[in-house]
Amino acid sequence: MNGHDYIDGRLYAEQVSLEQLAAEVGTPFFCYSAGAIRQAYTAYADALSGLDATIHYALKANSNQAIIRTLASLGAGADVVSAGEMQRARAAGIAADHIVFSGVGKTDAEIVAALDEGIDQFNVESEAELRRLIELANARGANPNIALRINPNVDAETHEKITTGRQENKFGIDLARVSELFEMATAAGQPPIGLAVHIGSQLTNLAPFEVAFRQVADLTATLRDQGHRIERLDLGGGLGIPYTDGPSPDLRDYAAIVRKTVGDLGCELMFEPGRFLVGRAGTLVTRVIYVKPGADRHFVIVDAAMNDLIRPTLYDAWHDIVPVRRNGAAQQITADVVGPICESGDTFATGRQLPEAHKGDLIAFTCTGAYGAVMASTYNSRPLAPEVLVDGDRHAVVRRRQTIEELLAQDAIPDWLN
Ligand code: LLP
Repeated sequence: MNGHDYIDGRLYAEQVSLEQLAAEVGTPFFCYSAGAIRQAYTAYADALSGLDATIHYALKANSNQAIIRTLASLGAGADVVSAGEMQRARAAGIAADHIVFSGVGKTDAEIVAALDEGIDQFNVESEAELRRLIELANARGANPNIALRINPNVDAETHEKITTGRQENKFGIDLARVSELFEMATAAGQPPIGLAVHIGSQLTNLAPFEVAFRQVADLTATLRDQGHRIERLDLGGGLGIPYTDGPSPDLRDYAAIVRKTVGDLGCELMFEPGRFLVGRAGTLVTRVIYVKPGADRHFVIVDAAMNDLIRPTLYDAWHDIVPVRRNGAAQQITADVVGPICESGDTFATGRQLPEAHKGDLIAFTCTGAYGAVMASTYNSRPLAPEVLVDGDRHAVVRRRQTIEELLAQDAIPDWLN
């Protein structure tokens, strides 16, 4: 199970017991399996073998530097969406010329920082951004690699908050305007060298990829006919993972779609997976604080909350909930698993079947390696949970638990209140 499995009825991350980690770092905490990350990366890279392809890990999924470094050591570059992520990538050892900068709202300061850093590519999402990038680059005598991210107007058939390729979404440039923007940029001395597309996240049906990639291929042909040089195609990320036992998209089928649609264009292909590489490798371990039998509901109240893992309440996401210590004699119950935060939305699961839980028990939310810790907040003045990386029988705390003192120290009381 993705680097996590039971040994003698106890849940382990590789060879490290989650019970022992809980005793060491307290709960809640995130635990990641380096082996599972390596396995996912290798599978992804293998599926693309034979293609001229590079993998740029989408840091937004999990930007802990130990995770970035684990992927960098396998050859991954980085897809970043802020100056902060760019600095994280650099600090974790990713060379500037392996960094792609995506995102719909790059500020002047971020563009300048990325130009100065000498990153490999800017994925530009609007005419206004293109004009600004050209101005800033020309002023510095820089010639950045520019790809235009298109909006293919494709429905990715995923949760509405993480679909990005429809016309009503804020992302990318309308297909009809791409050619004109190539002309404009070329006339300004900064001819783009490629196209980019990313239609959404957690895609479990591959058909929308095929539609989008075909549009990229058609547009490549059109732009080449117009005399433009299209050397690179960035196909984004988005490949979904199985959060339950249900069917999951097949990597080989995904790669077959890539080959079929854009494999013969003589372009360097770039990929930006996030969730696929790290999602399954993580668990969020939490302790049951109370069990509260209700009139018509049974509540299991745990010490993790929506500030630690917001996916269930934000996207109605399902994460499996498993006991850290298996008890064959435990009865199955139906319960709502909730956190301590003062909102009804602080609910991880409703009407979930799970083994009877008692105060003090440890339970784990699976597949929380992506968009877990990175989306955490300190709501309700809850310090950020620690992160632990396991590799074989080794483990290291790769982010320690934030302290309440650190939280308080960020505030300042103005003079006039003293
Ligand atoms: N490239 C671009 C331009 C993106 O916007 C994203 C994700 C990725 C790559 C990586 O996508 P992935 O391979 O991870 O699907 N917080 C949400 C997911 C938001 C994804 C945003 N963009 C969640 O928890 O489901």
